[in-house]
Amino acid sequence: MQWKIPLSDIDFGPEEGQAVNDILQSKWLTMGAVTQKFEQAFAAYVGAKHAIAVTNATAALHLACVAAGLGPGDEAIVPSLTFVATANAIRYTGATPVFADIVGEQDLNISCHSIEKAITKRTRAILVMHYGGYACDMPSILELAREHDLIVIEDAAHAIGSELAGRKLGTWGELGCFSFFPNKNITTGEGGMLVTNDDEYAQRLRSLRSHGMTTLTWDRHKGHAWSYDVVGLGYNYRIDEIRSALGAAQLKKLVVNNERRRQLTQIYREALQELVPQVSIPFVHHAGISAAHLMPVLLPTGSDKLSFIENLKGQGIQTSFHYPPVHTFTAFRSNRNGGALPVTEAVAEREVTLPLYPTLPERDVLLVARAIADALHRS
Ligand SMILES: Cc1ncc(COP(=O)(O)O)c(C=O)c1O
Repeated sequence: MQWKIPLSDIDFGPEEGQAVNDILQSKWLTMGAVTQKFEQAFAAYVGAKHAIAVTNATAALHLACVAAGLGPGDEAIVPSLTFVATANAIRYTGATPVFADIVGEQDLNISCHSIEKAITKRTRAILVMHYGGYACDMPSILELAREHDLIVIEDAAHAIGSELAGRKLGTWGELGCFSFFPNKNITTGEGGMLVTNDDEYAQRLRSLRSHGMTTLTWDRHKGHAWSYDVVGLGYNYRIDEIRSALGAAQLKKLVVNNERRRQLTQIYREALQELVPQVSIPFVHHAGISAAHLMPVLLPTGSDKLSFIENLKGQGIQTSFHYPPVHTFTAFRSNRNGGALPVTEAVAEREVTLPLYPTLPERDVLLVARAIADALHRS
């Protein structure tokens, strides 16, 4: 399908081409000096002591759950309105995801009150997900976690560059996980990053990323080591130099591109104002500075979302849906933990995600807004 206005787009230029070409010329492809530089640049940008690059955010979330010590018999609280990876990461360890509801129409993030209700003797961790790059209520969640001695892991896949109270998202909890999938605010194709301020976690994560080995091929190539020990069960979640070079080039554009995303979000909000309150626009007065990863809107209650999406598709406008709630998936039905998630279910029925990316022209934002008004009048 050739979209007139796609859902997302990538800001690649000659810089990325040059960065990848340099790696190909160097003939050192796996994790090495370029990855170390990318990690240092990312850590400095988000204000974390350590950044550990991995194959993707799912691997980052998995390693975070392993490092947090999750295992069979444990529970971890997670929103259902997230990508399935957040919950899968818990299941990989044998622990059980327990789903919490979201705050409401204005704030699609996990609710602290709902987390509190879900805590049991088995709860070990809380995984939050900053929907669309908008901050969860981290001060309240951290306080709750402290009271119950729980580890907080942030799924910051949407939140590269987001801030709350002057502190970057991903650095509030013990461990933060970022995604560089092609629709994210920076991309390496597949790719992800873990951040932490804790030296022990960092050391553990570096080891888990590469089979629990004590040295890397890179260390041996540099003559710093000639053998290795294996100190635990680890994985191959290593990133490669090509992706790290892409990531480093993309990181340089992030500040400008996130600002552009916020401007476009504002233009959307103004253009859609005539449809409010039938159409609801989440996060309008939200705390913090968002990476504005997504532009979600909630259609009027009872509207036919499918025909709305088809209508926009007919005009060449791609939309999406974030997310089918995880607790409703076949693979998670036994995890329903008895509790209904009424706010999540009501919001998910109405949510549609509009095109948003830094290179989206303003006139296309206005065109999408007009198309939405027409589609709603027709349905
Ligand atoms: C909220 C969220 N968590 C986790 C992931 C998983 O990221 P990755 O594709 O890098 O594994 C994604 C990716 O789409 C996501 O949106």
